[in-house]
This record gives sequence, C-alpha cells and structure tokens, in this order.
Amino acid sequence: MLVDSYGRTVDYLRVSVTERCNFRCQYCMPEKPFSWVPKENLLSFEELFLFIKVAIDEGVKKIRITGGEPLLREDLDKFLKMIYDYKPDIDLAMTTNAFLLKGTAQRLKDAGLKRINVSIDTLKPEVALAIAQKDVLKNVLEGVNEALKVGLKVKVNMVPMKGMNDGEILDVLEYCKERNMSIRYIEYMENVHASVDIKGMKSDELLSIIGERYKFTDEGFEATSPSHGYKCEDGYKFGIIEPYKDDFCAKCNRIRLTAEGNLIPCLYFDEAMSIHDAVKRGDIQEAANVLKEVIRTKPEKNRWSEEDGEASNRAFYETGG
Ligand code: 5AD
Ligand code: SF4
Repeated sequence: MLVDSYGRTVDYLRVSVTERCNFRCQYCMPEKPFSWVPKENLLSFEELFLFIKVAIDEGVKKIRITGGEPLLREDLDKFLKMIYDYKPDIDLAMTTNAFLLKGTAQRLKDAGLKRINVSIDTLKPEVALAIAQKDVLKNVLEGVNEALKVGLKVKVNMVPMKGMNDGEILDVLEYCKERNMSIRYIEYMENVHASVDIKGMKSDELLSIIGERYKFTDEGFEATSPSHGYKCEDGYKFGIIEPYKDDFCAKCNRIRLTAEGNLIPCLYFDEAMSIHDAVKRGDIQEAANVLKEVIRTKPEKNRWSEEDGEASNRAFYETGG
C-alpha cells in the first residue's frame, strides 16, 4: 500500500499519454505551446505499462488515462487492453474531449475501458467555438452519445466562466440529467498557461443559480473524490470541484504520470521526479523507489486554497488535470 506522510493512501494513478491536443481551450491551452515534448522523449506504451505494473503491484486500484487529448495517441485501445489484461478489476477510466470518440468508443469499451469523463462547457456551437477555438460541439455530442450507446459510463465536466457559459449552468445540468450522466462543475483553476481574461465562478454562485430551479441537499465529499456532492429532491446528483477551499486536499489519493515519465505528486506544484530512465532500462526496482519517494514528498495541499494563493505554473495539458 502507498501511504503518504499525511496518512493518505494513494491508490489512484493518472497517466497522461500525450500533452498534445486538438482543442485550444481558453482555460488550458489557448495557444499552441512554444514547443512540444519531442516525440523521442515520450515513453512508449510498453514503457508506461512497465511503470503501471509497478504501481498496481504497490496498491494502485484506479487508473485514468488523460492528456492533452489521449485519443490522439495511436493504438490507445491496445494500451488499455494491456492494463486490463494485467488486472481486469482495475477501475480503468479516461478523460477525453470526446471529439474523436465517434467510431472509437466500442473499441475502447472492448479493450476494458469502463468510464470516461468528458468536458461539455456549453450546448451552443458558437460558445464551444469560442472556448475550444474550433467548431467542436457537433462531434463532441455525437461522441458522447456513442459512448453512452456502447455502455461506457459518462461523467461530464463543466468549467463555468463569467461572460462565456455562465448562462448555461442549468442547461448543461438538464442535458446531463436527461441522459443519466452526472455533472461536475469545476472551479476554474488559475494557471499561467490559460487566457488572462478568464473569470471563473465559485461554488456559492453556482449553487445559487442551481437553487433557482432545484431544491438540493449537501451530501459532502465522497470517500476520495475531490468533488463536493449535492442531491436534488428528485434524486439527481451533481458535484462541484472546489480547489480553492481549504479542505480540498485532505483526502487526495492521486499522483500523476506525464507522457515523458515525470511523476507528479500534486497538480499545483512544479515538483516532479522522473521514472523515464528507469523504465527505459527496464529497472523495475528503481521505478518503485521513485514512486515511493514521490509518495513520501507529496505536499499536504495546493496553494490555490491560500489567501494569496498564486496561479499555478503547471500546464493542465501536461498533467491531464
Ligand atoms: N481549471 C479548471 N479545470 C480545467 N480543466 C482544464 N484546465 C482547467 C482549469 N484551468 C479541466 C477541463 C477538462 C479536464 C481535462 O480538465 O474541464 O474537462
Ligand atoms: Fe485539450 Fe482538454 Fe486542454 Fe481543452 S482542456 S485544450 S480539450 S487538454
């Protein structure tokens, strides 16, 4: 079992398979980065898998594939299958922008994928164009429908932003409710890579908008999810991710691996340790040592929660959110 210095059991690994993305979301990667990680520095699926086996053997029970956009990486279904075959009861999930899901969802499901998280920030094509800087909505919604059809569980993420999609808080909720998908509003997390003029919305504002139509009760935090849960009178549940709140990190159970092999203990901070050379050499012992050291040095909490908490330097497209 992997337990950090604050007594938190870490059993959730997020693996970014590429930092590249086919969207340019204002809150994440509004401009193409000055340079991408060169292709030769990326770890192959075999190398990533070598580390994943170590992590599973040490107690990881949930793996989420992220990006950038993970579906840009060829043969992703084969990678999923490697993980699934090693441990079929692993909770295997993926975060995707859904643009390429149509035509691939069945294959991903067959490979062992159980769940996906997708972003639906708006239901208006012109707003989607403004946020992702590409006309994406049709493909995204078709991709989501196909995922539901093949039996993948779908959770929706929405980042509410003033003057952008703040009029659609309830519309997106209704959309999800009708399709039996849960929605989580994510408070915009300030980071130096995002557009400067974004104005995020905090949970109080969101709750007062939702409260205009629904009566709901506060369900508190789920066991290890960073999402604060609420339940409407009719039983529908929604969540809000509030990284600016002081207790956000108290139950954090996760670490992140980038596509080059940097192991990151906290989304907010720059600190990371590399497993790149170890897996290139096939040195399982060294990979396990780095993993344990990263768990040991996992910070107690992010700095968004502090009074003067600054924007993070970390790129979401590198860490996969
Ligand atoms: N703040 C909040 N959420 C973000 N995401 C990406 N960048 C940010 C940010 N700055 C979320 C998106 C997407 C997921 C991959 O990460 O909602 O669903
Ligand atoms: Fe791509 Fe997701 Fe970042 Fe948007 S939020 S630019 S879809 S990685």
